[in-house]
Amino acid sequence: MALVPRKILLNPGPATTTDSVKAALVVPDICPREQEFVQVLQQVRADLVRIAGGSLDSHTCVLLAGSGTAAMDAVLNSVVPPDRGVAILNNGAYGQRFANIARCYQLPYYELRSPWGEWPDLTRLQQILREHPHISHLAMVHHETSTGLLNQLPEIAALAREQQVGLIVDAISSLGGVPLNVQEHHIDYLLSTSNKCLQGMAGLAWVICRRQALESCGQIPPRSFYLNLYQQYQHFEANGQMQFTPPVQVVYALAQAIQEFWQEGPEGRFQRYQRNWQTLMDGLQELGFRTLLPLERQSPLLTTVLEPADPHYSFNRLHDALYARGFTIYPGKLQDSATFRLANIGAITEDDIRAFLAALRAVLLELGVALPIRYPS
Ligand SMILES: Cc1ncc(COP(=O)(O)O)c(C=O)c1O
Repeated sequence: MALVPRKILLNPGPATTTDSVKAALVVPDICPREQEFVQVLQQVRADLVRIAGGSLDSHTCVLLAGSGTAAMDAVLNSVVPPDRGVAILNNGAYGQRFANIARCYQLPYYELRSPWGEWPDLTRLQQILREHPHISHLAMVHHETSTGLLNQLPEIAALAREQQVGLIVDAISSLGGVPLNVQEHHIDYLLSTSNKCLQGMAGLAWVICRRQALESCGQIPPRSFYLNLYQQYQHFEANGQMQFTPPVQVVYALAQAIQEFWQEGPEGRFQRYQRNWQTLMDGLQELGFRTLLPLERQSPLLTTVLEPADPHYSFNRLHDALYARGFTIYPGKLQDSATFRLANIGAITEDDIRAFLAALRAVLLELGVALPIRYPS
């Protein structure tokens, strides 16, 4: 019997978890300074390095208590030397967030903006890096969860390498869901969280760091007391512990989620997410829905759907009726067009997606929306 009623979350994380991950939250009380807990932390950190394609000789994982933004904040405030700056690719809400964080810390930053859903102009990026030799790092989002766009990591990484700038990659909504390898793309800092494609609980973020790059950050005067990557790294090196109180139970749930990741295998998870996405796309097309992105830029993790112009359509009514049936959908983030978003990550299968599509059809008919969906031409 299920531990609690099962919900299908089509919001882009926290994602649906298995019962075994939920059950892993219930552990005997333990002081996080005990060796027993330190061993769990060490195993989780080593596994996360492997999942990102790193090697324990050259890479390390710095865990932080917090949501994904904590990792974005920690990296920017910790790795850019005082007299240097950061280039930021901004083609969505999370690229924008990098810029907001840089502004908060008064870091010199060069933002390459492109319309949401479009790839950055790489010639312009190369020009920016060439013209501003004091730029020490380039920060980019791998999967822009605000639209479902996958940025061109190999091409951008090659440019960063050519211009000898450190590469920061936000893989918060892609690590574990699509192939990604810090060594192949020479990524210095890769950020992610527990509650998306790794299918754990919310509350932990981390940065997979190239050890040599991280060690050079010891020279940088700290800009944050709490979210300092190098200081947390030193604590791990000294005693394997988190500097401040960790979310103990969330760590146990992540350890279980990681075991389940290895059981399924990286390729198995990628394939399942791809099947989920294909089933979703086929079903949406059958209902007449249009989606935002062309296939070459579209991730197999999240889809932005254009809202119908039908007068009977209302996102809130659609959301509420689906929520009552156990499915959570998510509003869009675009300012200039009406959209909603459907993620297909988490502990869900094609059967769940089919059940969702059947519920979607039923609710649209209940609302009086004409099917197939029509858009103004
Ligand atoms: C790509 C990306 N970066 C950063 C974040 C911010 O993470 P959080 O909301 O957990 O702070 C998210 C959240 O969805 C994200 O998808």
